[in-house]
Amino acid sequence: MVKTRQELIKKYIEFFKKQNHKEIPSSSLIPENDPTVLFTTAGMHPLVPFLLGQKHPLGKRLVNVQKCIRTVDIEEVGDNVHHTFFEMMGNWSLGDYWKKDAIKMTLEFVTKELKIPKEKLAVSCFSGDRNAGKDKESTEIWISLGIPKERIAFLGKEDNWWGPAGEYGPCGPDTEIFYYTGKKVSKEFDPKDKKWVEIGNNVLMEYNKTKKGYEKATQKNVDFGGGVERTLAILNGLDDNYQTSIFLPIIKEIEKISGKNYGQNKETTKAIRIISDHIKAATFILADPKTIKPSNTEQGYVLRRLIRRAVRYGRNLGIKGNFTGKIAEKVIPIYPEYEELKNNKKFIIQELSKEESRFNETLEKGLKKFEEIIKVGKKEISGKDAFLLFQSYGFPVEMTQELVKEKGMKININEYNKEFQKHQELSRTATQGKFKSGLADNSEKTTRLHTATHMLNEALRIVLKDENIRQKGSNINPERLRFDFNFPKKLTEEELKKVEDLINKKISEGLKVTREEMSLKEAIDSGAHGEFGVKYPEIVSVYTIDKFSKEICTGPHVSNTKEIGHFKIIKEESVAAGIRRIKAVVE
Ligand code: ALA
Repeated sequence: MVKTRQELIKKYIEFFKKQNHKEIPSSSLIPENDPTVLFTTAGMHPLVPFLLGQKHPLGKRLVNVQKCIRTVDIEEVGDNVHHTFFEMMGNWSLGDYWKKDAIKMTLEFVTKELKIPKEKLAVSCFSGDRNAGKDKESTEIWISLGIPKERIAFLGKEDNWWGPAGEYGPCGPDTEIFYYTGKKVSKEFDPKDKKWVEIGNNVLMEYNKTKKGYEKATQKNVDFGGGVERTLAILNGLDDNYQTSIFLPIIKEIEKISGKNYGQNKETTKAIRIISDHIKAATFILADPKTIKPSNTEQGYVLRRLIRRAVRYGRNLGIKGNFTGKIAEKVIPIYPEYEELKNNKKFIIQELSKEESRFNETLEKGLKKFEEIIKVGKKEISGKDAFLLFQSYGFPVEMTQELVKEKGMKININEYNKEFQKHQELSRTATQGKFKSGLADNSEKTTRLHTATHMLNEALRIVLKDENIRQKGSNINPERLRFDFNFPKKLTEEELKKVEDLINKKISEGLKVTREEMSLKEAIDSGAHGEFGVKYPEIVSVYTIDKFSKEICTGPHVSNTKEIGHFKIIKEESVAAGIRRIKAVVE
């Protein structure tokens, strides 16, 4: 019987390998080239180019366990099922098998490998709408495999449709599989009964959402996703994910530090869950090779919110002094496969501790100020006050919102946004651009910027005469490219000009861009560059820009450098010790 996380993951990967799937590594938590989302939210996310038809070097059947972060419901965390960080078991057919085999394999894995009795399972299928019909085919398959009709529910788009992950991209109806956590299983499946817990779902990707709406996809894919945490809870007969071995060592540490017991009362349990989830997520974000630090924009802001919310709940538990680093120490050994956790342990603890100290300096005073503000006794607190709490006391507005809600009040959020905009003109532009820009990864503009990024990477090595320069992060949206690399000092005007000139010269030479697949070893031996700290699969795709550049990359790219246009650097700055950042545009 499967009891631990490692056993579950091993069983899952081995089962799908036996069904001819190839294992791919867990990608970075920060998506490459998709400016519409801050974090990898599902295993399919890094696979979007392949779901859209690009050939994957490892074939048409893939499997992995992907680390994910979902930030939509940070404030929901505190109950028995919500998490910001979680792991997703995923298997994919890239234009290969379809509904029948997908459903068959899922059911076989659940019943034969995990030994979950069929009598405790139910499923849901898509009921149909004006874009896509009712999914009768899946229903018939489930029935033929022994799931009785009464245990099949038809649900609409809200429940049985998945994707796209960003604004546009592959998506489709899904069919979900549920397990009954109660004692006496009823004959019929009632999706509203909370005792039915979803184990996973097969997304039947027949559609591609574009600016024009839902279009039939040229390649039909299957995208299965299943939650590691909840499956493990089920296998251990628990109705609380936090009581599985994925959380227990963290919870024990919080109990030790606070002197409180998990389960002693509702508030304590909630606080302990929030701290364990948030510090786990923060640990993984800090471990990522992209070097994210707490800040007031983008991923850095989410990281800040997670740490500060955890610190506030730590305060509620009566914890004195810095504690988040001690929690992180308990997170790391739970996940031995993620080398980045061990390798970056010092950085993780140091950053947690710095952010915690920063917040501790203002938390007490901020809470006093908050009490003063609400004493006035209005139902609503002004946006100006909320902004003051943010600006002077470091309260993320979402945290103030939570505090206010606890008092049965709310914030005038429009007014807050106006204040924020007034004061943060610069970061506002950056952040909004991120949400406005649409799925830019396959647009022509981002493709041009993507190839320009490779050229920049090479040009820096040549101009700065430093062969050890490596990409430390990249982010592209239709407006600009952003490229992080290791270099100890600020670039001079002259150096920047030389980099620009070299790139524009190469662009005008009309160099051919070609793509090849090869083993990772061959790629490295041939001199292809990869991103620092990234774990690549065994077979990779390599993009070559004539004799100028060679990089391991999934694309997409232009086919001739002439398509790029004029390259211009707009900013050079420092992001961390020894890491520089360049922002550039193509015109
Ligand atoms: N991508 C699907 C999900 O996240 C499988 O549930």
